[in-house]
Amino acid sequence: MSAKWLKNAVFYEIYPQSFYDSDNDGIGDINGIIQKLDYIKELGCNAIWINPCFDSPFKDAGYDVRDYKKVAPRYGTNEDLVRLFETAHEKNMHVLLDLVAGHTSEEHPWFLQSSKAERNEYSDRYIWSDFCFGSADGLPYIGGECERDGTYILNFFKCQPALNYGFLNVTKPWQTPMNGPAAIKTREALKDIMRFWLEKGCDGFRVDMAASLVKHDDDKKTGTSAIWRDVRRMLECEFPDAAMAAEWNDPGLSLRAGYDMDFYLNVTGNGYSTLVRDYENHENEDHSYFKKDAGGNINRFLDEYMDRYEDSKDTGYISLITCNHDTIRPRYNMDHRELKLFYSFIFTMPGVPFLYYGDEIGMRYQKLPTKEGGYFRTGSRTPMQWNEGKNLGFSDADADKLYLPVDPSKDAPTVSSQEKDPDSLLNTVKKLLSLRSAQEDLQSDAGLKFICTEPGRPLVYQRGSLFIVLNTGGKEVSLQKDLPLAEKLFGIGNTSYEKGRLTLGAQSFAVYKS
Ligand code: GLC
Repeated sequence: MSAKWLKNAVFYEIYPQSFYDSDNDGIGDINGIIQKLDYIKELGCNAIWINPCFDSPFKDAGYDVRDYKKVAPRYGTNEDLVRLFETAHEKNMHVLLDLVAGHTSEEHPWFLQSSKAERNEYSDRYIWSDFCFGSADGLPYIGGECERDGTYILNFFKCQPALNYGFLNVTKPWQTPMNGPAAIKTREALKDIMRFWLEKGCDGFRVDMAASLVKHDDDKKTGTSAIWRDVRRMLECEFPDAAMAAEWNDPGLSLRAGYDMDFYLNVTGNGYSTLVRDYENHENEDHSYFKKDAGGNINRFLDEYMDRYEDSKDTGYISLITCNHDTIRPRYNMDHRELKLFYSFIFTMPGVPFLYYGDEIGMRYQKLPTKEGGYFRTGSRTPMQWNEGKNLGFSDADADKLYLPVDPSKDAPTVSSQEKDPDSLLNTVKKLLSLRSAQEDLQSDAGLKFICTEPGRPLVYQRGSLFIVLNTGGKEVSLQKDLPLAEKLFGIGNTSYEKGRLTLGAQSFAVYKS
């Protein structure tokens, strides 16, 4: 781990299509992000991650890259992106780009060359079997589309052929080893893309499907990890301040492979889902921890989280997220009070937190037809709601020209309305993040110890000299215990500590200094 600036980083994730449209063509753009940097900074986020903003046919919202070195014209130019890096740096902020490492678009020039019958420089840039009518050793594949005889391996959707980083163990004649010349060339091409943007001022990458590189890798991802360690060595020599965030969801592996951070993703049934989305198919029976009436048991989360934390805390950071462009927004099943408590928890935990644009005002999940390969995810990708004006301040284009419709409800939350209300979700997030920024003990590195996790009692945890108390339920709870709670630095609802008795009113939270 090398990037020191992560010690107090709080990220804001931007889906560029939907953040702010500065040229009124109905879609967000890089200049729009530049114009809103002050908003992000005042919110308390000092770093941003932008979803892929490169040239693409957009069959998967840009995760199908056609040219890694060119900003998609709909978002602006490479010069605009460089200006974003420079403006962010002037404001002491950092910018991560999204690196789609495992696959390209089927329209990428490498793939067009690779699919030709005659051998050429790019024949082995992707993974091809040698017979169009055979299967592909258990991997997902497409056949019958190209003049080349063989099937090609997919990494995700049909439009995303897998780049060839080789196989851990070669068992078929058409497979190449991960340390063979073909796979090494792919790896060097990846480094070349990284250098291109790092030299222009980007501060690192969030890596898409980071565990997906080497095929038929083992459980420990030995092959893929070795590649990332090699990439890390390059960064250490050439860009020592660059930060790498993995979409891997296994910090024990990813951080040892050279990543600085790894996301705790929402997977049905895992620890994170017990916090926010514990309802599978029965939305009316939501048992997640932050639901007021769910009987709140944090241990279902901690059983998994603490293992991950202990295993990774000296190597790098776990990134807790409010949500992301692939998940349903938390407002879908939580009201503003529940969200305040959820965010209070996330922003007082160790590691590097990520806030998805719009979650700070509780933007709703919209049920919408699919757009650019979004399917159910489309509903979490609608335009940012800035004010009560035209298109809620996102764009001056006609409403039918917008990338996606804005929230049509009369009480759609907006930044401007919440700025006026001291008790709004937005202002609560601001206060929380300003507290985190002022207190080193709330930041990425400070330790974590749980003091009471018993259901029906206050949740109490310690971060350095600070004690954090939380009651997600609708009834008052209390705990008799000697605790050094000297000064309340921040609170939601009623909390008190008298004569060794900690009492937390319904849905309350506080941070105390010892
Ligand atoms: C990641 C991205 C997702 C994308 C997929 C394929 O999971 O977050 O949006 O569709 O990878 O690139």
